[in-house]
Amino acid sequence: MRMYDLILKKREGGCLTESEINYIVKGYTQGSIPDYQMSAFLMAVYFKGLSDEETFALTKAMTDSGEKLDLSCIPGVKADKHSTGGVGDKTTLVLAPMIASLGINMAKMSGRGLGNTGGTIDKLESFPGFNTSLTNEQFIENIKHIGIAVNGPTLSLAPADKKIYALRDVTATVENVSLIASSIMSKKLAAGADIIVLDVKSGSGAFMKNEHDALQLAHEMVKIGKASNKQTIAVISDMNQPLGYNIGNALEVVEAIETLKGKGPADLHNLCIALGTQILEAAGKASDAAQAKDMLESSLTNGTAYSKFKEFIKTQGGDISNIDNPMKLVNASYIVPVISNSEGYVESIECEQIGRASMILGAGRKDKDSPVDLSAGIVLHKKTGDFVNKNEEIATIYFNKKEVKNDVINIILNSYKIVDKKCEKPELIKQIIK
Ligand code: URA
Repeated sequence: MRMYDLILKKREGGCLTESEINYIVKGYTQGSIPDYQMSAFLMAVYFKGLSDEETFALTKAMTDSGEKLDLSCIPGVKADKHSTGGVGDKTTLVLAPMIASLGINMAKMSGRGLGNTGGTIDKLESFPGFNTSLTNEQFIENIKHIGIAVNGPTLSLAPADKKIYALRDVTATVENVSLIASSIMSKKLAAGADIIVLDVKSGSGAFMKNEHDALQLAHEMVKIGKASNKQTIAVISDMNQPLGYNIGNALEVVEAIETLKGKGPADLHNLCIALGTQILEAAGKASDAAQAKDMLESSLTNGTAYSKFKEFIKTQGGDISNIDNPMKLVNASYIVPVISNSEGYVESIECEQIGRASMILGAGRKDKDSPVDLSAGIVLHKKTGDFVNKNEEIATIYFNKKEVKNDVINIILNSYKIVDKKCEKPELIKQIIK
């Protein structure tokens, strides 16, 4: 087999066999296929696409390229959840302890963020000492003992994806549904859970800017999951405005804790209930959505989800001395109000710009090695559909880098579209694909 011939075949719209795809993935991962040929191949895929069979073969080759976690020694069902990413998305921090408190194991692999805000792993590091690099043995032991573990990215799971994704990132070949679906699913399949719930975000602050593209990605990932004998469900949720009000690592932890205490914002609360419902139904813990919802709501009102969160943070080495007073985790030198210069209803918020503002404040990464300021971020006071008075505080910014203040205030003010006419709040859950 020659890589040249396979590039040509794809360029001409041909369908590659499983062994041809295995050859490409193995060759690239091991270094016998150079970047320039893999780049040409990825560009051919970008233009000609992959069939379902090719996409599945690619996912399998990437899943098999490294270690696969075997969770079979943990009794009971194991669930994992993945979000395609958005601004203010702290869902895992709420959902995972809720689910674990109801007796279903959460075996969660999470990432660090690039851009906007940090990922789940960065957010959890707001608790000093929190260990995000558990060994496989520690990961499994923690799930066995308390039903929950969240680990950071490891080099050993799906190494082919890591190498290919890094190349796609610099060759303008990220935005292809088959490549995105196989990339995400290869990591989820290697992580070994029985149930995979995918939160596919759609909107201005998401990877998928419209519902059509989000739906396509959701279908593709559910197909891959089912073909791999995993229960896979995708929930398409709105990301045309940030989720909740707090954006930034420690600030998001604060809001997640409020939500675990049953006092969180409606959108975050409802999304966690919607995702949790899918997990409880798939695990056979609830006979229908109404029962699942009742169980999830009770875990918040009776305090078991919050207790599980504390147990989880402590078990992974986090200092929980400030957990009941989490604003102490936010150590910002400057806390500045952003004042509205107009009056009316919020018609829309440019979600991506709010993410950019939080990154400039220090909450996100400009490139993959830059540090994040865990205390930096934004608290919004107004969301789509709300009324704002002139001179009212529309948001508050938290930061340690004095020089970014004016830029960030301008970005936030320009992100809000304020109109005279009353506006609807956007629908949060758009579709569920099973
Ligand atoms: N996230 C991933 O893990 N892979 C992609 O290709 C895109 C987003």
